[in-house]
Parts: sequence; C-alpha cells; structure tokens
Amino acid sequence: MKILPPTPENIRIVAEALRQGDVVGMPTETVYGLAGVAFNPSALARIFETKERPTFDPLIIHVAPAMGARTITDLARLKLVDRSALQKPAQELADRLLGQLWPGPFTLVLPKLPDVPDLATSGLPTVALRMPKHPVAQALIEAAGAPLAAPSANRFGRISPTSAQDVQDEIGDRISYCLDGGRCEVGLESTVVSLDSFGRLTLLRPGGTPQSKIESIAGTPLLVAALPSAGAQVAPGMLESHYAPRKPMKLLSAPLSTLSDEQLKAEIRSGVGILLLSGESRAAAERISRVCGVRATVRTLSETGDLAEAARNLFAEMRAMDAMDVNVILAEPSTVQHGLGHAIGDRLRRASAKRLDG
Ligand code: TXA
Ligand code: MG
Repeated sequence: MKILPPTPENIRIVAEALRQGDVVGMPTETVYGLAGVAFNPSALARIFETKERPTFDPLIIHVAPAMGARTITDLARLKLVDRSALQKPAQELADRLLGQLWPGPFTLVLPKLPDVPDLATSGLPTVALRMPKHPVAQALIEAAGAPLAAPSANRFGRISPTSAQDVQDEIGDRISYCLDGGRCEVGLESTVVSLDSFGRLTLLRPGGTPQSKIESIAGTPLLVAALPSAGAQVAPGMLESHYAPRKPMKLLSAPLSTLSDEQLKAEIRSGVGILLLSGESRAAAERISRVCGVRATVRTLSETGDLAEAARNLFAEMRAMDAMDVNVILAEPSTVQHGLGHAIGDRLRRASAKRLDG
C-alpha cells in the first residue's frame, strides 16, 4: 500500500481508483476509513472482504458539503434517503440535527431508498449517513463524485486505525492507497443515532458527538438501545461475543506437558500493561508491581485527565500495548458517564469483552 500525501494530484489518483471500483484508505476526523463507492456493490463486497467483516454488519455512507447534502431533501436527491417514510416532525428533526451537527462525528440512521445497495445496509430498510469534517475526506468524496461507504480501516474485531501507518499495519497488504491526513483529531468513531418515522431518536453507539448535544438540539432525551440479551440482536454491530472471558485469553502453543522450562517462560511472561485515563492514578499503578510482584508497564491517555486528549490517544495506546511485551492489558474504567467519557468507557468495555464489532 502507498501512503500518499493529500496533494490535489494524489486526491485525483485515489478518486479515479474509487471510480474504478477500488477500495482505499481515507482519513477522517474520527478514525481512518476503508472507502468504496456506495452505489457500487462490488466495491462494497471488497470492503467486507478486505476487513473480513461479516456482511450482517452495515456500513456508514459518507457525503460531502460539495454535494449540497445539507438536508434530508438533499439526501433524497442523492438517492439515499426515503424522505416520505418520515412524518413531518421527524423530517424537521432530521434537518435540525444535520444542520447543526454536520460536518462532524455524527451518524444518522434514516429510511433508505431502494437505490442504496443491500450490501451497504445488510438488507435493512435504513441507511447510516455521515458528513465527515476532515478536509481530505471531503475533497476525496467530492473528487470521486459519489457518496462513499466507509467502515473503520481495520481488520474485523481489531483496534480502529487513527493514522495512515495504522492502516498500513492493519490492511496494507490488501489495498493500493491510503491518503495521509495526519493523526485523527477525535480518535474514536462517530456517535450513531437512529431516527424512526415518528421522530424518536435512539442512541446506537456513543462516540465523538456528546449525547447531551444531540438531546439539546432534539429537545428530548435519546432512547438507548438495550444490550442484546437472550440471543436477540437488537441492532447491527451490537453483538456481544459469546465465548470471550473478560480477561484476554492466551492459547498455549502446545500441550503444557510438552513445553520445556524455556518455552514455558517465553509463553508465560508475567508483564501486565496498565492503561490509565489520567496521571492521577500513576502511584496506584506503581503499587501493582510491588504488591503483585509482576512487571507493570504504565501508559497514560491524558496526563491531566482531559477527555478529548484521552479519546485522541485511546486507540494508539491500545495498539502500543498490543505491541509490547505484556500478557494482560488492564484498563481503568471511565468514571465519567457523559460526553467523550461515555464513548471512551464504551470502547474500553468492548475491547475487554472482545465484542464482535468491526
Ligand atoms: O466515525 C465513524 O463512524 C467511522 C469513520 C470511518 O467515519 N466509521 C465507522 O464505521 O465507524 P463502522 O462501519 O465501523 O461502524 C458502522 C456502525 C455499525 O457497526 C452499526 O452499528 C451502525 O454503524 N449502523 C450502520 N448502519 C446501520 C443501520 N442501518 N442500522 C443500525 N445501525 C447501523
Ligand atoms: Mg469499526
């Protein structure tokens, strides 16, 4: 894979590849996406194949300001949204949300038109839409001349990429290009909210846009999608993995009785990695190696406990831990339940529950 600086010439090259049905790495302000033309089913199939993502997990379709995608009337003109499936108050609410939260880390799930391929929506009657704020994403969508479907550019179940190098490490052997837009400013994915025909809003995924901001625009509290229970799948992307213990499980390379002492030592390294939300916990973390007698590697998401900084560093630090000589990663839960604290807590919980999400 070539990492390309976002010059006008390179944006033209990558847009042409998209028009030919290729899939490419695209920077956004949240995380890097693996983009393909949303109306091209074979490009969509390549996205799922490249990520090894199951096709029951639908994609987010990205639009740009240059398309004039400001209201749901515009989104209907772009053959994405079935405006008539929404009652008048729901139409007005959608326009208000898009008017105030786009471009930005906000994804709205709306009734779709038949023109949107089933592969983009996993056969659902709805489509997830977002207008990214990153200028390179906007320029690429405009140059491609079509909305782009883009999940995060990681292999399924892995950490989302927040730099072009992360994309290289994840899927660099599978795609031709990634535009380099620098490190992602937000660092975790968009907030996903669905709107039904009556104007009810449901939070499907906490993310870069605080829930309170959406609620103050809507003037009502969001419904929160219940976690799946008793085998029921409430919404795509919300599956809990069934067999994952809470701690990372490590499979030994061979039956225990056949491992030499040397091999055993190599397999069972006692190092733990400790992910702190703020510098405040450092002394407590140092206590672990003393009390438990193990080597502890400490990384801090934000020295001052600043949530925006912690969100920006979250995935990069998780990746760094993955690459270190530690057996178990211990993460502090987020005690802040609102705004980015909610989104950070959600990602930490999912990472430790080994949730199925792409
Ligand atoms: O910040 C982001 O949103 C990033 C960047 C690249 O824009 N994209 C991203 O896409 O996170 P992805 O595919 O990893 O997450 C899409 C999630 C799905 O897992 C699902 O939960 C939800 O959005 N989703 C998409 N379409 C939906 C639909 N029709 N109904 C309900 N949920 C949907
Ligand atoms: Mg993802």
